[in-house]
Amino acid sequence: MVAFKVNGKAVTVTAEPGTPLLWAIREHLNLTGTKYGCGQGLCGACTVHVNGMAVRACQTQLGEVAGKSVTTIEGLSPDASHALQKAWIAEQVPQCGYCQSGQIMKAAELLANNPKPSRDDIVAHMDGNICRCGTYTRIVAAIQRASREG
Ligand code: FES
Ligand code: FES
Repeated sequence: MVAFKVNGKAVTVTAEPGTPLLWAIREHLNLTGTKYGCGQGLCGACTVHVNGMAVRACQTQLGEVAGKSVTTIEGLSPDASHALQKAWIAEQVPQCGYCQSGQIMKAAELLANNPKPSRDDIVAHMDGNICRCGTYTRIVAAIQRASREG
């Protein structure tokens, strides 16, 4: 049994400590906004925050988050009012949508640490979060908008 916080709430998950955090989030806690893309740390679809740092939940073991605070897309804001969520809608970023929660969580880490990133900062930070639909231009535009309007 592993105890930790998810989106501000204390939870316990009964599973082996070596279970991927992604499984605990999706299967045990039924938070399905976090996606399974590759399962190998290559795509970023499973990005969540652990103590404020973006990590790949498919490559993070449940035991590693014991006592820590995990934030998923569902907990980014109580009512989808995070500047990034608003900017994502304004820029109509998603195509199929599959990669997008991971993109937003990765972007949220950037703006938390660097509220006024340059375009190069954005591109460098987001490198590694893959979008099969090629929405990269709109992702950058949405992050710039959130940084302006946030
Ligand atoms: S599913 Fe975790 S990086 Fe692709
Ligand atoms: S919107 Fe389809 S994979 Fe990114």
